[in-house]
Amino acid sequence: MVAALSLCARSAGAGADSAPDAKKMFTEKGCIACHNIGAPSVGPGPELTQVGYQRDAAWLHAWLTNPQKMKKDTIMPKIPWKTPQELDAMVNYLMAAKRPIPAADSGNGEKLFQDYQCGACHAVNKKGGKPQFPDLAREAKEHDAEFLDKWLADPQKIKPGVFMATFPLTPTQRHSLVAYIVSVNKKK
Ligand code: HEC
Ligand code: HEC
Repeated sequence: MVAALSLCARSAGAGADSAPDAKKMFTEKGCIACHNIGAPSVGPGPELTQVGYQRDAAWLHAWLTNPQKMKKDTIMPKIPWKTPQELDAMVNYLMAAKRPIPAADSGNGEKLFQDYQCGACHAVNKKGGKPQFPDLAREAKEHDAEFLDKWLADPQKIKPGVFMATFPLTPTQRHSLVAYIVSVNKKK
């Protein structure tokens, strides 16, 4: 958390004169048509504010170089970066966007779901999310808590190549999220 905060502080400062302005590129290169930072996205792409919890800089670098190589049916276009510096600036910008996760939320799965922005991809009872990702209000019917816990610990182990990565959850946070997912299903 401390590292994330100091990154934010640095990128908000004056910065190097010649570094490409990633915030400007986010609009100029059309990311904004599909994504958003700091608010839900209107387009088909997930909100990216908290993406740095799920992805690391190397993954973002590879994704932003050639999205189809990593998810062959994605509608995200291959971005024509003018220089390697433009791409690096965008990766840094995305990694620095994240907000800290309040420690007090560890026992509250509903809050954690919002904190980590699971809703950037997943709807819950048709609210939020993007249609290419599953609505989680059905999951407990198909999977028990034990499965959900294993899924959150390492989705790639269960479904190699799936477009969801491991979040840095403590066991308590993981259990809270599982309890939340089970509870929204039962409410239906
Ligand atoms: C035409 C829409 C579109 C445009 C334009 C677009 N993206 Fe995407 N992007 C997507 C979609 C959709 C996904 C999710 C993968 C999928 O469903 O295929 C995605 C995924 C991502 C992800 C991974 C998100 C995650 O949570 O793992 C990042 C990062 C990203 N895009 C960044 C960008 C940036 C930066 C730009 C501009 C340079 C951009 N995208 C332009 C549609 C778009
Ligand atoms: C970048 C988009 C994305 C984000 C963000 C994301 N997921 Fe997922 N999630 C997926 C995809 C893709 C799948 C797999 C769909 C499939 O079965 O192919 C999935 C599946 C799941 C499943 C169901 C597993 C199953 O087999 O039915 C659960 C539960 C889940 N996600 C929980 C979460 C939680 C909790 C968070 C936040 C901590 C989260 N996801 C964040 C993309 C995402």
